[in-house]
Amino acid sequence: MRLVLLGPPGAGKGTQARMLEAQLKAPQIASGDLLRAAVRSRTALGTEAKGYMDKGALVPDELVLKLINERLGQRDAQGGGFILDGFPRTVAQAEALARMLETRKERLDKVVAIIVPDDEIIKRISGRRTCRNCGAMYHVIYDPPRNVNLCNNCNGELYQREDDAEDTVRMRLEVYAESTKPLLDHYGRLGLLAQIDGMGRPDDIERRILEAIGMNRTARTVEAKG
Ligand code: AP5
Repeated sequence: MRLVLLGPPGAGKGTQARMLEAQLKAPQIASGDLLRAAVRSRTALGTEAKGYMDKGALVPDELVLKLINERLGQRDAQGGGFILDGFPRTVAQAEALARMLETRKERLDKVVAIIVPDDEIIKRISGRRTCRNCGAMYHVIYDPPRNVNLCNNCNGELYQREDDAEDTVRMRLEVYAESTKPLLDHYGRLGLLAQIDGMGRPDDIERRILEAIGMNRTARTVEAKG
């Protein structure tokens, strides 16, 4: 399954992509995670990207496309599909992705947009905490860790992303409305888009996504056991 998860910042794309990895037997490929890794490693690309990310602006297409192209070339993303999270974010990126896939004689199977209202997004993002060590995600109210500021999985330190400050989040929402929302029409015209309600428990949202891509829980359970 070659799937794109679309949606505003904080809609739950990362949460859902991680949940879906096992169901779809396909890796999550998150452009934000790839960029943050480049920033941490202090590569030239990461240093250039950081200035844009700190402001809540989009990183220039050529930098993002380079990272995505490299990542799609890795073994786990070949043949069995992938779950793209946070990419594409502009129509130009979507067109570049289609060209990349065409050279592999592949095309997207589905694009699922997770729809969440802005006031809920602010609540979700302001309470998000992420493990520095393994990347696991929590929410101080909706999904708190067992021990304050420590990851349940690996005891790593939980931190708040620098771009999750409220005014940066508002900027990210504006950028979403201006540059990313047009992708809904783009993928709608291509007949690939399903829009799902992103409100509710993560399990319910996962079920809606599975339905949208033609899988259901029964099939999923049988597959997981097999
Ligand atoms: P990126 O990292 O992609 O951020 P984003 O798209 O803004 O999305 P988030 O990671 O903030 O949210 P999410 O939808 O994954 O939600 P999550 O599951 O974490 O991008 C960061 C920056 O990198 C961009 O601003 C840009 O500068 C740059 N960038 C990245 N990709 C780019 C590209 N393609 N082109 C150019 N620039 C690019 O959930 C959020 C919180 O809510 C968590 O705490 C979670 O626990 C909680 N939560 C999740 N689901 C639920 C639920 N159902 N109910 C209650 N709480 C929930």
